[in-house]
Amino acid sequence: MPIEKADLVAHFTRRFGEPPRWVVRAPGRVNLIGEHTDYNDGFVLPMAIDRAVWIALRPRNDRTVAVYSADYDETSEFSLDTLQRGKAGWVEYLKGTAWSLQQGGHRLVGWEGVLAGDVPLGAGLSSSAAVEMATARALAVAGLLDWKPAAMAKLGQRAENQWVGVNCGIMDQLISAAGRADHALLIDCRSLALTPVPLPSGVAVVVLDTSTRRGLIDSAYNERRGQCEAAARQFGVPALRDVTFAEFQRSAKSLDEVTRRRARHVITENERTVRAAEVMRRGDAAELGRLMAESHRSLRDDYEVSSKALDVMVECATAHEGCLGARMTGAGFGGCAMALVRAEAAQDFAAKTATAYERKTGNKPAVYVCRATNGAEVV
Ligand code: GLA
Repeated sequence: MPIEKADLVAHFTRRFGEPPRWVVRAPGRVNLIGEHTDYNDGFVLPMAIDRAVWIALRPRNDRTVAVYSADYDETSEFSLDTLQRGKAGWVEYLKGTAWSLQQGGHRLVGWEGVLAGDVPLGAGLSSSAAVEMATARALAVAGLLDWKPAAMAKLGQRAENQWVGVNCGIMDQLISAAGRADHALLIDCRSLALTPVPLPSGVAVVVLDTSTRRGLIDSAYNERRGQCEAAARQFGVPALRDVTFAEFQRSAKSLDEVTRRRARHVITENERTVRAAEVMRRGDAAELGRLMAESHRSLRDDYEVSSKALDVMVECATAHEGCLGARMTGAGFGGCAMALVRAEAAQDFAAKTATAYERKTGNKPAVYVCRATNGAEVV
């Protein structure tokens, strides 16, 4: 069952004997297209989904943050004055975010509350960005800070990069901070310009969780980043964002085989993403689906970040007549794929794709139709 505000209010009231002062939520995301382009200063087209991390809270008059995690049935607290890295665990995302906001010059105040989420962990739906942005939203409302989504997303990314130690790009935090109901956001990851793009009518976005979890993700991710930077150096530009496909074709010969394929993915993916936003604006769902299918092939063959389970899921999804296109979403190596499906076929699609996938892999997937929601907000 998805979490709702009333659940958080009830939980908080049981623990603290009064209702919370505020309830905030920050969503997970599914990326429609534009994968592994954010750290190349490129374009992404994610939407915030109706799976989120929630915090119910009230202010304290000291500098302590004390949080009960309903998912882990555990309370953790820390002082805003003596932030220190502890051993890996959920509270590190909160501490890292508080640290980053203070580094960014924000004056924070203490609070206490209850945290609960329904973004599946490690599935490629950005559960950690959702925790960071929910924490930032809570810190902002308690400390009377202005909520500037792009600035807060950058601070969330800094928490992830420098406190948690994962070298991610800006996409996940930014869509969690700035998402817009019923829209995807075309994000220019260089300028951080955000353009809301309405979802075409008559289609549903379906998340297809393979129930496999990614292994070795960080090392493979960092290796891809390194290969992209090397390619950009060879082209003599700051980032692969600056190379057109025509330029790539002219000088690709000078790149080694692997670097060439990595660069080809990023360069073609950027072009597909900009085009996807154009066709969405025209309501051309069929063309959007076609671009998604191409994106998957490019991630599978050129960027090599798919997995057997993701490929099987995409094949099962594509075999359904209601499916317009399917692809892996997020960093890859496991976790989720997504599909664009004709709305009237969505329930039949979900059931048949789940059955087909389970028959082929022996793994029980989780499949759900999702809605595009607002980004982090006080509700
Ligand atoms: C992860 C990272 C993002 C992005 C995607 C791949 O989700 O956190 O910054 O690089 O992988 O598109």
